[in-house]
Parts: sequence; C-alpha cells; structure tokens
Amino acid sequence: MHYERLNVANWSRWRPQMLRLETQTYEPSRQDTSDTLEKIVCNEKGVNLVAIDDQQLAGFCLGAPLEAFAHVRGPAEDPFRGNATVLYAADTLVDDHYRRQGIGRELKTRQIDAARSEGFQQISGRNRAGLADAMWQLNSSLGARAIHIIEKDYQDGIEPDLCIYYRIALTVPLKRQNNS
Ligand SMILES: CC(C)(COP(=O)(O)OP(=O)(O)OC[C@H]1O[C@@H](n2cnc3c(N)ncnc32)[C@H](O)[C@@H]1OP(=O)(O)O)[C@@H](O)C(=O)NCCC(=O)NCCS
Repeated sequence: MHYERLNVANWSRWRPQMLRLETQTYEPSRQDTSDTLEKIVCNEKGVNLVAIDDQQLAGFCLGAPLEAFAHVRGPAEDPFRGNATVLYAADTLVDDHYRRQGIGRELKTRQIDAARSEGFQQISGRNRAGLADAMWQLNSSLGARAIHIIEKDYQDGIEPDLCIYYRIALTVPLKRQNNS
C-alpha cells in the first residue's frame, strides 16, 4: 500500500474514486458533495491523505482547520474555533474490500503525526453512534475523548440519531502499532 498527501495538485486524479466511495459507503445524510470535499482537500492548511493500491484508491482521510467548519454542529459550538490550533477530521473511509488490514489506522496515524508537526495542538471530529462505531473504536485507541453528544443532527430517520464530538490532544507523540 502506498500513502501520499492529497491536495490541490492531485485532487482531480482521485476525485472520481473518492466520490464513488462516498456514495458506496455512507447513507445520504453523511455523504459529502464534490464541492465540500474540494474545499477540504484544497485548503492550504489541510492534512489529507490517500491510500493507494496500484491505481486503486483503497481509502482516504481528510482534515482541515476547524475554522472552515463553522456551519457544522460540533465545530460550530467549539470554544477553540478561531484559535487556529485545531484540525477538524472531516472524513475517513476505507473501501470495503480493504478493511481490517490496518489501512484506517495507518491513515489516521499519519494524519495525527502530520497535524502535530504542522503546528496543530488538537484534532476534533464527529463520529455517528452506531454506524461509525468502527471509527469511534479506532479514534478512541488513538486517544480520542468524547466532548459532547450531538442529538438529532442527521434527521434521516435512522436511529440512533446521535453523534459524538471528540478531541485528540496532540501534545503526546503516538505509540505506533506495527500493522505490516
Ligand atoms: C472506520 C474505518 C475507516 C476503519 O478502516 P480499517 O482500515 O478497516 O481499519 P483498521 O484495519 O486500520 O482497524 C483499525 C481499528 O478500527 C477499529 N475497527 C475496524 N473495523 C472494525 C469493526 N468492524 N468493528 C469494530 N472496530 C473496528 C478497531 O479498533 C481497529 O483496531 P484493531 O485492529 O486493533 O482492532 C472503516 O471501517 C470505514 O471506512 N468505515 C466506514 C466509513 C466511516 O464510517 N467512517 C467514519 C466517518 S465518521
């Protein structure tokens, strides 16, 4: 598996496969549009990565400064918004066929390491209770702590309609697991 940074230079290369995976993976209320993804990927302070198997996109992990997400519940109420110290982890996804091989963990570990070395002090994010339990397990193992629970934000009739807003402090270097 090959990992590389995703940004304005290679966005058009990976965009079609990213959009296909978004549609394939998420219920409509969690799918991001091409415009939304582009704003995150092309944010010059973003920390975005792709996992590539030959020409195939196996997964990706997106994040940009919290200030870019004022319209999203969680970031909207976050007292650290405006300090330019928090990376908001917007989306992490691994294609079904590549799951449980350590790719999600590698993407997140690389994102956390890059965020720390690029001056962020924390990562925050949202995980939908139930549907994103695997992601919450992964984030928890990387130091995420729940800050609050957001109720009834998705409003799509799927229960539970709850999401966990969490933080990962970047003051302590991560202990890496060996997944190779
Ligand atoms: C969450 C996701 C990215 C994990 O990717 P992955 O490559 O399969 O994850 P890894 O193999 O690196 O596993 C890392 C950890 O994730 C957790 N995990 C992964 N799959 C899991 C599952 N089916 N059930 C419970 N925990 C799981 C475990 O904590 C695992 O650690 P372990 O291997 O030490 O037990 C993947 O399941 C996914 O794309 N899910 C759908 C998209 C999504 O909901 N994203 C979150 C948006 S909020």
